[in-house]
Amino acid sequence: MSDWLNQVFCEDALAGLARIPDGSVDLILTDPPYNLGKDYGNASDQQTVEEYLRWTEQWIDAALPKLKPNGSLYIFLTWRFSPEIFVMLKQRMTMMNEIIWDRRVPSMGGSVRSYSSVHDTVGFFVGRKDYYFDLDAVRIPYDAETKKARSRSIFIGAKWLEVGYNPKDVWSVSRLHREHPERANHPTQKPLEIIERMVKASCPPGGVVLDLFMGSGTTALAARRCGRQFVGFELNPEYCAIIGERLAALETIEALALAAAPDAPAKPKAKPKAKAKAKAKAAAPKKKPAAKKAAAPKPAAPKRSRAIKKAPPEEVTI
Ligand SMILES: C[S@@+](CC[C@H](N)C(=O)[O-])C[C@H]1O[C@@H](n2cnc3c(N)ncnc32)[C@H](O)[C@@H]1O
Repeated sequence: MSDWLNQVFCEDALAGLARIPDGSVDLILTDPPYNLGKDYGNASDQQTVEEYLRWTEQWIDAALPKLKPNGSLYIFLTWRFSPEIFVMLKQRMTMMNEIIWDRRVPSMGGSVRSYSSVHDTVGFFVGRKDYYFDLDAVRIPYDAETKKARSRSIFIGAKWLEVGYNPKDVWSVSRLHREHPERANHPTQKPLEIIERMVKASCPPGGVVLDLFMGSGTTALAARRCGRQFVGFELNPEYCAIIGERLAALETIEALALAAAPDAPAKPKAKPKAKAKAKAKAAAPKKKPAAKKAAAPKPAAPKRSRAIKKAPPEEVTI
């Protein structure tokens, strides 16, 4: 079994990428620092423009060889540096979409000398024409009213009416405000709904998703919930601890769901279950159990992970 799979390494992504064999990743889904001056407990978001763009080009060139030939890349950015970074990527890949994430921020305050920005810009890039893309996995069901309105004979049997419509390139999903049940203690945590859509569309079941900048671990969690594998990096040890908590909580939910499932094997192995429970309990945040809540919305994918492995202190592993 690979020693780099299903792990988040608490280290610099540029150094850590050497752990991953070339051509082994189906999807790079990453949310790097935007260089807007945020404090992630490191200086990654506070670089000069020249430094930031040089560093971005460096990690892009180190990460792209890890992709399989039919792999894809999604990168979260804002309007500030997406023009420069999209050009960099267009010199190396084919751009398929610019997705606008409308964060649905309520109209309070904001800039008085320009328009308030309420969106992130996501670039979707592929390596070659036969890239993996499963549209059916991310179709959005029509509501009953629309289906009824389309009940004329010309629509009967239309596949799209049954399976739903394909998502457009503006994704309107609320950001995770402080009270949101999914929210962990990370300033720029992304909603699972968005990340899971990308994973389902652009990584085959059982495939591998790489996120160089894990933050609170949303990509790892999404991969796991969708029955995919993951690997990634995060510099800040406090965020690494949050990732461990979120994954442990998810593992507990998976173990409980497996035990409760009527067609579950006669007796799920006690050891991993007990271990998962104990780990989740030990790791549970004392004040605000955001991590536990984060995993709650949906039962996890049925696929079981390998047993929890004791990791050296710098790693978060499942
Ligand atoms: C925008 S946040 C990612 C948020 C994440 N998508 C989530 O949902 O929680 C970027 C993260 O990259 C981390 N980071 C910055 N430079 C890094 C590096 N060289 N290697 C690994 N992680 C880094 C920061 O500490 C920060 O947590």
